[in-house]
Amino acid sequence: SAGHQARDMGYQVYCVGGFVRDILLGRSNLDVDLVVEGDGIKFARALAEKLDARVREHQKFRTAVIICADGRKIDVATARLEYYEHPAALPMVELSSIKMDLYRRDFSINALAVHLNPQNMGRLVDFFGGQRDLKDKVIRVLHSLSFVEDPTRIVRAIRFEQRFGFRIGAQTEKLIKNALELNIFHQLSGSRIFHELQMIFEEDTPLPCLIRMENYGLLKHIHPMLKLSSNVKNILTETEKVINWFQLLYLEEKIDKWILYMLGLLNHINEVQAGIIMQRFNFSQKKTRHIFSLRSQINSAMSSISAWHQDQGKLSSLYFILNPLPLEGLLFLMARVQKEELRKYVSHYITHLRDIQPQISGRDLKKMGLTPGPEFGRILKELKAAQIDGVACDRQEQKEWVRQ
Ligand code: CTP
Repeated sequence: SAGHQARDMGYQVYCVGGFVRDILLGRSNLDVDLVVEGDGIKFARALAEKLDARVREHQKFRTAVIICADGRKIDVATARLEYYEHPAALPMVELSSIKMDLYRRDFSINALAVHLNPQNMGRLVDFFGGQRDLKDKVIRVLHSLSFVEDPTRIVRAIRFEQRFGFRIGAQTEKLIKNALELNIFHQLSGSRIFHELQMIFEEDTPLPCLIRMENYGLLKHIHPMLKLSSNVKNILTETEKVINWFQLLYLEEKIDKWILYMLGLLNHINEVQAGIIMQRFNFSQKKTRHIFSLRSQINSAMSSISAWHQDQGKLSSLYFILNPLPLEGLLFLMARVQKEELRKYVSHYITHLRDIQPQISGRDLKKMGLTPGPEFGRILKELKAAQIDGVACDRQEQKEWVRQ
């Protein structure tokens, strides 16, 4: 219906970018990007009305997002007609605006479009050899200034290369090296660099991307202390395993993967240097404090559980050691403990112990004639411990236990 809508308005509309790339690769992609030769905002409004959807408009960029009732989003952009003056003062030339729009993009594989107007429905628009590069599994930029114009593309090249099992083309690789020699990374704001890193952390296997970044000398361009020593590689390998383990539990809970990767990357770096690196990433005070407090919580939990294990402590003691740690802290702890047996205990805590609640509540205590107060918290905590240790597991036993 987008194509019909465009035709009725006298516009051309194309589906572009990652969506087209992923269709050709046979991968799923839920983000639809449309480019309109015409007024993108007007088009988005009309299409949204047909789809019974909402629109969010960004007048400044001539873009809009259509938000469907089922939560799906369609990005709509306006392909601007740009006029180029010929050097010899020949008349201005009008380039097809979809071509200009695609030319501004990062890699040939992302510069493909599919025409959606009824008379051309489904026609693939490939000005820059994107199809060939998909077939040859190559990441290639469209022009030699691409990385200078947008240095974040260096990280994107690595991300796509690793995600699809492609390789960066020889010429493109040269351009990356040239751009790095120009120190272009220094001009990038911390937030933009970290945003790109965060996208890497969201990939299925971030570690190979980080190794590739290290090989290009990218990490040290970000900060000289940011290195993938064998220690860091080990801890990140373990971290990746733990994240995969956790995701296979299919819990509702979402984790902030970036926290785990930051903890891993900073694991062997002292407080002062870690602070400087986080400053380079433009972290807020709150974010920085969170990472620091996790680091110290994890360290003290490490020594407490070792001691607990040596003393053959009760399960409830393990519970109270691990209870203050947020989920990301628990997962990183799991990645850090070396002893397999201890790791099992931490995973047992995550999958079972942390959800345990005593069989009776504060309300039950009140019904039993106890007066509410700070004492309640202590009793409930002890009840929980009794339950974890299997001393008093059902309601009756727990009531007995309270009465004593
Ligand atoms: N793009 C670009 N330069 C950038 C970022 C994005 O040229 N620095 C272009 C690319 O053509 C890309 C499109 O904008 O296809 C959309 O960007 P994004 O959503 O980040 O990329 P996707 O290709 O959809 O990647 P992903 O599969 O990771 O969502």
